[in-house]
Amino acid sequence: MKRWNPEGAIAVLTGASSGIGRCLTHQLADCGATVIAVARREPQLTETVSSWQSKGQGRILPLVGDITDPETHLLIKNELTQLTDDHRLDLLVNNAGVGAIGPFAEATPQRLRQVMEINFFSAAELTRTLLPSLRQSSSPVICNIGSVLGHCAVPDKSEYCASKFALHGWSDALRCELACEGFQVTLVSPSTTRSEFFHSLIETDSKTKSKSLGSWPADRVAAATLNAIIRRKREVVLSIGGKLLVYADRLIPGIMNKFLKRPHYAVKANVN
Ligand SMILES: NC(=O)c1ccc[n+]([C@@H]2O[C@H](COP(=O)([O-])OP(=O)(O)OC[C@H]3O[C@@H](n4cnc5c(N)ncnc54)[C@H](OP(=O)(O)O)[C@@H]3O)[C@@H](O)[C@H]2O)c1
Repeated sequence: MKRWNPEGAIAVLTGASSGIGRCLTHQLADCGATVIAVARREPQLTETVSSWQSKGQGRILPLVGDITDPETHLLIKNELTQLTDDHRLDLLVNNAGVGAIGPFAEATPQRLRQVMEINFFSAAELTRTLLPSLRQSSSPVICNIGSVLGHCAVPDKSEYCASKFALHGWSDALRCELACEGFQVTLVSPSTTRSEFFHSLIETDSKTKSKSLGSWPADRVAAATLNAIIRRKREVVLSIGGKLLVYADRLIPGIMNKFLKRPHYAVKANVN
């Protein structure tokens, strides 16, 4: 199948003010795409634009907004109508996301709601709003940034795992539903990535550390994402540690469950 061509494409990318989203915005614009770059923090979003060394026909159009707010979805839609007569959209990257660390039993219901709202419901509803514009494209792509934790669940990240499993399942269903219309749905599942992610965890003790089997820089994750989009991949799991976790969970789920089990929860539950 012919590769997807970013040159001249119109893209919407959420979570463009830092990390993977900022790097991917730059890489798409380097390839000649016009990128509507969405995030809440205006100074950081402005930096995404100012730190880009223009290399051609690409453009970055910053749009300040919270993706949990339907008003932001309408602003994005409106921006598309300013760009072309047919309000065409070629690529939607649902990248914005947040994490939370800590036992489910000790968390508030708001933590679950917030993580699900940003990581899953907003991505799904933004996609719903932008489907008519994607349908105007001759080669529409929806790229969802999931996580290896959307394939293999671990303790202390129950809300995050739930949100990324939801994104995974929804991506697979959407791919089947929209294939007959020529849509490509690409799910990218990074492992631990060096970004601002661990500085903006919801309701998480600031001293909490996350363990990982080796992390990637954000620009490497962005490059692998762009490569997956261009090569029309349906799903990519990034990093050797990430692949090990995902495939071990598929092949030996019982052993993985034993390996990941936390005995001290049982002790605590008995005490309380
Ligand atoms: N870092 C990792 O280890 C890792 C591993 C696997 C998967 N991922 C996934 O990769 C994606 C990008 O994360 P990252 O590592 O690049 O983290 P990051 O540097 O913290 O970037 C997250 C981005 O999401 C935006 N965002 C958060 N809430 C938003 C909201 N309500 N509305 C609009 N934008 C919002 C943030 O911008 P504002 O705060 O300015 O709004 C920021 O630009 C996420 O989906 C994350 O789950 C990360």
